Amino acid sequence: MSEKETVPVLRVALVGCGRVGIKHLNAILKANDSLSLCALVDSDKRAPSALLEKIRVNDRKAALLLSEVQIFPSLDALLLADTPDIVAITLPSGLHFETARKALLAGCHVLLEKPMTLRTSEAKELFELSETTGKHIAMGHIYRYLPIMEQLHNDFAAGKWGKISHGSVIVRWGHDQSYYDQAVWRGTWKLDGGALMNQSIHALDLMCYLMNTVPVSAVAQLGKRFRTLEAEDVGIAALRMENGALCLLEGTTATHPGDHEASFYINAEFGSIRVGLRRGLPFFDIIDNKGKKITSKYYRHELKNKGIKGLLASKNPHFLIYKDLNNAIRTGLYPIADAHSGYKSVESMLAVYQSAKERRQIEIPNNDDFSLEQMSGFFS
Ligand SMILES: NC(=O)c1ccc[n+]([C@@H]2O[C@H](COP(=O)([O-])OP(=O)(O)OC[C@H]3O[C@@H](n4cnc5c(N)ncnc54)[C@H](O)[C@@H]3O)[C@@H](O)[C@H]2O)c1
Repeated sequence: MSEKETVPVLRVALVGCGRVGIKHLNAILKANDSLSLCALVDSDKRAPSALLEKIRVNDRKAALLLSEVQIFPSLDALLLADTPDIVAITLPSGLHFETARKALLAGCHVLLEKPMTLRTSEAKELFELSETTGKHIAMGHIYRYLPIMEQLHNDFAAGKWGKISHGSVIVRWGHDQSYYDQAVWRGTWKLDGGALMNQSIHALDLMCYLMNTVPVSAVAQLGKRFRTLEAEDVGIAALRMENGALCLLEGTTATHPGDHEASFYINAEFGSIRVGLRRGLPFFDIIDNKGKKITSKYYRHELKNKGIKGLLASKNPHFLIYKDLNNAIRTGLYPIADAHSGYKSVESMLAVYQSAKERRQIEIPNNDDFSLEQMSGFFS
């Protein structure tokens, strides 16, 4: 490309201006050499301006960039007026399917928050639609974008860690009652689910990404112990993976909100890894099969490949998801957290719920097309 040629800036519409919206807005603004925000969509008239206010307090330059942004009450209204390059969907989870479907059919690429959908057949349909339309779906599976994860994924894929015996994934993402009380959709079977479907699905996805496999059976238990919501505030599942490894999943919001933890352990033939996030800080403890710590080897490799700037960027994984989607659109490669990962994670998590409901082991895939709404009445 000659020096004068510039890459066209992709126009993004943000659909949903709530709690996670600010992370998306900051990420889009940070990538202002390649992305521009063209529209904000929310059914609550006050939400777009409340979101913009959060930016304005901190960043006057951003306010200028946002002065051209159009506001719409629905995706339908936006699509009548415009066809953005990317539709970023940050709506309550039960609205993801219809919204993403409309955006893909209108010819837009999609950045879709997790979970992809609340029914397996809908996740599969979105995955297939993205294939047939040639439009990407990048999932909000932020953990895939933490430092070192891609390296570990590649090394496991290349067989450098040998056979895996088992892994365990823990999500202790405490929320107090005010979290569930702030919006009527939270914690409901119809639009959200509990600690597993909301807080733990991208952690299960990371485990599958690291292990390079997917669950083929699930047995699970759910509990509602401390919080008042329709769904679970704690869930535990035992999974058998396609490669023969076992995996334990613990997900809860019943812990202290000041002590968030998402941790991942894998024991393999040639070593073991403990990685994750605790109280906002990533941790890595990687040892070989002689018990020698080899974490620094991974750090050095990461630093060499991504530089300090790249490493620091992982503090804002949503920025990395946008960057990855942007790259996917320009190159035709799949994003790291692609549509297939969204589909498989929904399929696996719904098997966990189905197992708890039907008190039996569930095979994955199956033809049951279980939906989260079928959990209705589970705790009554
Ligand atoms: N990847 C992550 O780290 C992460 C973090 C938080 C939330 N999430 C996901 O993001 C999604 C949104 O979560 P949130 O916490 O921002 O929710 P929220 O309730 O704070 O925001 C949702 C917004 O959608 C709007 N809305 C609702 N129905 C609408 C409709 N039909 N049309 C237009 N607007 C509508 C609401 O008015 C609200 O402003 C959820 O799926 C959640 O699981 C992801």
